[in-house]
Amino acid sequence: MSDKTPIRVAVTGAAGQIGYSLLFPIAAGHVFGPDQPVILQLLELPVALGALEGVRMELDDCAFPLLADVITTSDAETAFGDADLCLLVGSKPRGPGMLRADLIRENGPIFVGQGKAIDAAAKEDAKILVVGNPCNTNCLIAMNQAKRVNRRNFTAMTRLDENRARSQIATKAGVPVSSIRKLSVWGNHSQTMYPDYTHGLIGGKPLADVVGDAEWLDGDFIKTVQGRGKAIINARGKSSAASAAWAAIDHAADWHRETPDGEWVSMAVPSDGSYGVPEGLIYSFPCTVDADGEYHIVQGIDLNDAAKARIEASANELSTERETVSDLLG
Ligand code: NAD
Ligand code: LMR
Repeated sequence: MSDKTPIRVAVTGAAGQIGYSLLFPIAAGHVFGPDQPVILQLLELPVALGALEGVRMELDDCAFPLLADVITTSDAETAFGDADLCLLVGSKPRGPGMLRADLIRENGPIFVGQGKAIDAAAKEDAKILVVGNPCNTNCLIAMNQAKRVNRRNFTAMTRLDENRARSQIATKAGVPVSSIRKLSVWGNHSQTMYPDYTHGLIGGKPLADVVGDAEWLDGDFIKTVQGRGKAIINARGKSSAASAAWAAIDHAADWHRETPDGEWVSMAVPSDGSYGVPEGLIYSFPCTVDADGEYHIVQGIDLNDAAKARIEASANELSTERETVSDLLG
């Protein structure tokens, strides 16, 4: 075991579908690297503590060298105690025929209590990633409870959408996923999200030139990424889990290291008014992360009229969601 101080990672809904896929890569070092010990602080509803005990037994049985401790609890302040990273997954998933926004009145209140508990117990500079849907607005709700912890560090997950976009492009162009750069998702994790291929690069060349099919890029590509969550629910009968967990690992790992030169990462973060997005909405932008682990919204991106219209439509949708939960914003 390394002699570094363990990093404390709180995970809510830890016995659920995503939780089950998320904990093992964290314990194996996929977020913080191969010499950084971690402590997992797992929150579940009282009814799921038995199942969570089984997950803890499986974590034990992996004998992960980096896993310094596992705490299981149904008390939010215990789970978030001194946490460095809080992964807010615990909430209800949508079923067939539902929109993610249909969950807002049921899941929203969870994030009032958890936002308060984070503010009471987590480290001041804790990083927060909200996965539970509708994740942008749930994140907004949690962030509004923060008085002590850094509000800038409340983020929501659109990395799954970016990964989906990368995979679609790689297949269409017949190129490795690793050759793709600057393919970012803007906006809400909803049907209005905008996967922006216009600034993407493949092997250093404009992505659109390499793909060579403008109609597909503007049509089926965008629609497939926007509708992928629903397509998975229709096929599996349950919402995405392993890919969602992996995207959360990617988001957290990329927030922990400096973004390589010439790359962007999609993160839904509190808007500072960039690109006309109303301040305070949790909005996905192309971001970079510096050597101190601070993210920055990429500035100066030249957007065409179609992109501007899509970006505005997604912001308008988030403004409407914000009004729907105004009673939960403290
Ligand atoms: P799941 O039902 O399998 O697991 C959710 C777990 O959360 C359950 O074990 C439940 O007991 C627990 N839980 C519920 N309320 C809780 C609370 N207040 N505190 C602690 N734990 C609580 O669901 P899942 O498939 O793991 O999905 C979880 C959430 O993630 C859903 O809202 C889903 O829509 C969302 N999701 C988001 C993305 C994304 O890209 N942002 C991707 C996939 C899923
Ligand atoms: C996804 O994108 O797969 C998740 O947000 C689950 C869902 O409801 O679509």
